[in-house]
Amino acid sequence: MNPAPTYYLTTPIYYVNDVPHIGHMYTTLACDVLARFKRLDGFQVKFLTGTDEHGQKVQKAALAAGLAPHEFTDRVSANFRGLTQAMGFSNDDFIRTTEARHIHSCRALWQRLVERNEIYLGTYAGWYAVRDEAFYAESELVKAADGSRLAPTGAAVEWVEEPSYFFRLSAWGDRLLAYYADNPDFILPESRRNEVISFVRSGLQDLSISRTTFDWGIPVPDDERHVMYVWLDALTNYITALGFPDVESEDFKRFWPADLHMVGKDILRFHAVYWPAFLMAAGIAPPKRVFAHGWWTNEGQKISKSVGNVIDPHALVDRYGLDAVRYFMLREVPFGSDGDFSHRAMIGRINGDLANDFGNLAQRVLSMIAKNCGGAVPQPGPRTAEDQALLSAAAELLPQLRAAIDRQAFHVALTALWRVIADANVYVDRQAPWALRKSDPPRMRTVLYCLAEVIRHLSILAQPFMPASAARLLAQLSVAEDRRTFAFLVPEHALQPDTALPAPVGIFPRYVEPADGADA
Ligand code: ME8
Ligand code: MG
Repeated sequence: MNPAPTYYLTTPIYYVNDVPHIGHMYTTLACDVLARFKRLDGFQVKFLTGTDEHGQKVQKAALAAGLAPHEFTDRVSANFRGLTQAMGFSNDDFIRTTEARHIHSCRALWQRLVERNEIYLGTYAGWYAVRDEAFYAESELVKAADGSRLAPTGAAVEWVEEPSYFFRLSAWGDRLLAYYADNPDFILPESRRNEVISFVRSGLQDLSISRTTFDWGIPVPDDERHVMYVWLDALTNYITALGFPDVESEDFKRFWPADLHMVGKDILRFHAVYWPAFLMAAGIAPPKRVFAHGWWTNEGQKISKSVGNVIDPHALVDRYGLDAVRYFMLREVPFGSDGDFSHRAMIGRINGDLANDFGNLAQRVLSMIAKNCGGAVPQPGPRTAEDQALLSAAAELLPQLRAAIDRQAFHVALTALWRVIADANVYVDRQAPWALRKSDPPRMRTVLYCLAEVIRHLSILAQPFMPASAARLLAQLSVAEDRRTFAFLVPEHALQPDTALPAPVGIFPRYVEPADGADA
């Protein structure tokens, strides 16, 4: 047998300057769905997330909290780890940049860059935005209403002048452009790819990669007055987790280059320009894809601590349920575009797509089987063209979902699933099994069998998106836990007539506003 194909995907490692919010949850959720999908599809998956703990921004936050940086980062990192646990995310590792394995890996990467003459010592004199942990050219700055200068992102900038090591980024422009040209899907979505290409075409400056005016970072080998620039440190996490600098390690050989770095659009440049340049300069293959997703607002407003509208993922899940939130976030907004979080839209999805469409379908079919077929999978008779059409529509879903998931088009995958749910609901209405109960019981059994088999397909394919609800549905169809991978989506593994089924219970409850009006 061939070894299982592999799939390595990563989230950004989040800054520990703040509590986790829905923006962080969203990125990790998208990766979780992908990781689950690939596992069910027979891949050996490694899914990495973690926290970015060095640099000036985190040091400032620690100071403001009155804690030593390592105490502060321990505390905040635990909140992010807690989020992945509370959300049931299926990450295989959780990396912290303050771990020994990572410090070792960064210093080794630095050494490699030195050996290859990609680093030189100079002086940085220019603008820096601590909020973005980014250097900006004078020409990129914008004027604020009060006349002060800001980064193009709106972050405050300060003038920095200090000795610094530089990475020869300016030498990598053509090789980066060649990499983008040879790998048209390296940067998705397409619009973001074009932005990156025009940025690189406009010419790259050498990049300052060390700082001397604070010390919360990884010391530069052989020159401990410097700490590494936090982005060089942070990006390296993706190879640390595979055992770098041991490039002969099982994980490194198996999983590098990464299949996907999932990021928000705010940090695309670091991942699609700096990171492949660092890697190529160190003689390491660049990743296969960087996907930059869009930005969430809350009821139309930018989510920010100062506005006071940060959405706590735990509160969200307490209120609507985990699977409903998972579904909403990936269905409401085409993945890659910006999206707005609103209570109304959330309720619309819960009561419409989940309760009315999927929930009712399952509930109607399972309760008719319970009442009219002795609580067991009915014995089907000959199939009509309509039966066949519905079963085929379900069978065609897997290749459609694969294609969508391989382009991170979660909304397309969900739309395809819901098209078959709609087909199945139309089929129930047309076949009217409740009427067949009297007029043609064998035909009723065939109709209910087809529907149950379609629900089996839908539930297996819904697992990556709504793991708990799909598991409950599969349990109601008596599908054993070891028969729920995509390999079972074939006629040979169709539901066995006469299999006993448990008493049906509703899976997708309607959302009812609390009576005290707390939701206004
Ligand atoms: O940038 N909508 O960390 P960070 C959607 N440490 N996604 C959002 C979001 C929003 N409103 N807000 C945050 C860093 N995100 C670096 C990364 S990686 C080597 C280092 C998500 O804590 C989105 O994925 O600022 C964004 O890219 C990320 O959180 C930024 O997290
Ligand atoms: Mg940020």
